[in-house]
Amino acid sequence: MGKALDGVRILDFTHVQSGPTCTQLLAWFGADVIKVEKAGTGDITREQLRDIPEADSLYFTMLNHNKRSVTIDTKNPEGKKVLETLIKSCDVLVENFAPGALDRMGFSWEHIQELNPRMIVASVKGFGPGPYQDCKVYENVAQCAGGAASTTGFDDGPPVVSGAQIGDSGTGLHLALGIVTALYQRTMTGRGQKVLAAMQDGVLNLCRVKLRDQQRLERTGVMKEYPQYPNGTFGEAVPRAGNASGGGQPGWILKCKGWEADPNAYIYFITQAPVWAKICNVIGKEEWATDPDYATPAARLPHLKDIFAEIERWTMTKTKFEAMEILNKYDIPCGPILSMKEIAEDESLRKTGTIVEVDHPVRGKYLTVGNPIKLSDSPTDVTRSPLLGEHTDEVLTEIGYSMGQIDALRTAGAI
Ligand code: COA
Repeated sequence: MGKALDGVRILDFTHVQSGPTCTQLLAWFGADVIKVEKAGTGDITREQLRDIPEADSLYFTMLNHNKRSVTIDTKNPEGKKVLETLIKSCDVLVENFAPGALDRMGFSWEHIQELNPRMIVASVKGFGPGPYQDCKVYENVAQCAGGAASTTGFDDGPPVVSGAQIGDSGTGLHLALGIVTALYQRTMTGRGQKVLAAMQDGVLNLCRVKLRDQQRLERTGVMKEYPQYPNGTFGEAVPRAGNASGGGQPGWILKCKGWEADPNAYIYFITQAPVWAKICNVIGKEEWATDPDYATPAARLPHLKDIFAEIERWTMTKTKFEAMEILNKYDIPCGPILSMKEIAEDESLRKTGTIVEVDHPVRGKYLTVGNPIKLSDSPTDVTRSPLLGEHTDEVLTEIGYSMGQIDALRTAGAI
């Protein structure tokens, strides 16, 4: 079966996480992704957080599946020429260098356009135009600057960053959407364009509901679904809401049986209004279904802490999976707090290809997250990440270099 992006060639100048996660998705959709790396070292993540000496790290392998790797010294005049030839034969150039690095390399937007007016140049940067546009940025900087950290954690503690890599992988997702959109527009205009996904913007987009709450707070001075209501205080900015639900249905994380020893023996419990009577029945508080102090969502808001304490008395008598089974029978929305160990061992995630076992010639078998986006006409086969420079000869031959020329380039240190 064909793939959605068959025939699309991507010149992948990305490194670390944000860019590679974008080009990996495009490769899974069928694009030919040619990763350009520095000769000798390659993407810095190849050697970061190594668990097996000499083998590419999991950091690298899990972000660079289905790609080809060429090594080119883009500061070498002959290397620049190779890159120019590649630019002429590709559809998209994706990069996430520090601001200005591509220009310093001699590959400004204008120069790329001269070489290939159909080329889409897609970039991840930490910030968009403005006071911080020249800053280098990593994941947690973006989480802090995009509003995630100030709104995550508990009221009496410091700002907290999330384990979800919303700055890096989140921005990679945004960029991938920008790229396929630009490719679609090109089918009509014939022209390439610049695509920019700033990490601060990507995080803020994912924190949209918190900007919603900022405006609600400014208008009313109080937000009744936040744990600060009714006894705490609200300041001028959206406070940290602990584990409160971000939507209109109050939720909280509750202890389950075994919580004393197992740090993940918890369940997320949502007191969804349509199933309130069922919740009351399950936890043995039938009278709350009709008690005017508890019967309606508005009446419940001042008592949420007590309500969750009562529900927790029930969840503590069940494991998180027993609680799930009972609650799901009544359509009560809830979710187990799954550890990474449980996720890695989850059979259903293996069946759908969301967790995949991959074989690598140096490190052997390892687990990875497969394509989370499933297309019925474009199935994903996850193949291992390339070794450094594994495809240099193959790719250069495809763009017209003879073996003699390739040898000469190698001798000159250009590849
Ligand atoms: N051949 C020769 N030189 C190469 C090369 C190649 N194939 N590939 C890269 N380089 C050079 C670059 O030209 C640059 O040189 P310069 O500083 O002289 O211009 C140099 O390598 C380093 O690139 P840079 O991007 O500055 O790397 P860094 O390790 O100093 O910074 C980041 C890393 C991630 C902080 C930075 O790239 C960045 O802010 N990127 C944008 C935001 C982002 O994506 N952050 C998330 C990362 S997960």
